[in-house]
Amino acid sequence: MTIVIPMRAGPDERLKVAARLIVEGKLVAFPTETVYGLGADALNERAVRRIFEAKGRPADNPLIIHIAESEWLFELAREVPEVALRLAERFWPGPLTLVLPKGEKVPSVTTGGLDTVAVRMPAHPIALELIRLSGRPIAAPSANISGKPSPTEADHVVDDFYGRIECIIDGGPTPIGVESTVLDLTGEVPVLLRPGGLPLEDIERVIGRVDVHPAVKGIEVNLAKAPGMKYKHYSPNAQVILVEGPREAVRRKMEEIVEEFRSRGLKVGVMATEKYDADAFFHLGESMEEVARNVFRALRELDKAGVDVILAEGIEERGLGLAVMNRLRKAAGYKVIRADKLK
Ligand code: TXA
Ligand code: MG
Repeated sequence: MTIVIPMRAGPDERLKVAARLIVEGKLVAFPTETVYGLGADALNERAVRRIFEAKGRPADNPLIIHIAESEWLFELAREVPEVALRLAERFWPGPLTLVLPKGEKVPSVTTGGLDTVAVRMPAHPIALELIRLSGRPIAAPSANISGKPSPTEADHVVDDFYGRIECIIDGGPTPIGVESTVLDLTGEVPVLLRPGGLPLEDIERVIGRVDVHPAVKGIEVNLAKAPGMKYKHYSPNAQVILVEGPREAVRRKMEEIVEEFRSRGLKVGVMATEKYDADAFFHLGESMEEVARNVFRALRELDKAGVDVILAEGIEERGLGLAVMNRLRKAAGYKVIRADKLK
């Protein structure tokens, strides 16, 4: 049975129930500032194993551990370099995940067998209070079935997990909408493994140069640094096609493709920052922040509208745009059309 706890006004007494479930090794989905997480006690092997089973997640794709106090970092990581402390001081609580050498207490199921551990302190009052009340570090991947778009509303979690986990806390839509930025601090130079809710530019302003892992820009690589990179991601049932290039060229190209598919009797959905005429349309918003907040919701809703093809408009890769484009390329299975290229 799944208890759904509506908690839109912020944390309240009922969180004790959810915290007790965590202590008992059960699964609790909860809102964070990025997306909903599917949480369990990070140090309880059996509970963590259930996360992998529920999601259908490959065992070698490690989880992020969520903490409520910076000091917990020293319990989870074997070594905490100075740069990690500087970043934590500046950006926690917030959408930044740090990859560090794994401490002994952390079971290897949690880290997908790696000798590194990913940790973040979420900036959501419900998430923080849940962690505090349970007194446990909480391992939580995004609360979606593996391969589906990440959940930005409790309804998305209900769609994927109702009846299969013990509790879903409904804290309303998540404010950022894309997952945390993942930064590997185990090498000489920090490496961006996943662009996310904290823009790369903000990190570089504090610690200087950061290497960007080639997979971030959508180049498919076989390297297992961030095991999450190699799996199919964020895919709705419809085929997603991403159109990139200068604005005007993108507009022309998208209109052309909509016509082409429709003439073949296919239903086409469009997600874009400007209005399009199609079988289904999702307006992503004007600002980068709005687009980030809406990108996963758009994929899920267009899918529900029953379209065969989803055309996504590419946006600029600065600020949150880098994270949005990374998600769209993956959703498209790297099927990208460059609108400015001649045929
Ligand atoms: O915003 C978020 O990060 C959300 C919320 C719930 O906190 N969580 C989330 O978790 O997105 P998940 O499991 O969907 O994505 C975690 C990513 C994966 O790409 C995984 O491979 C990477 O972080 N990761 C986790 N531990 C790692 C490690 N030790 N080394 C490298 N990458 C790691
Ligand atoms: Mg995920």
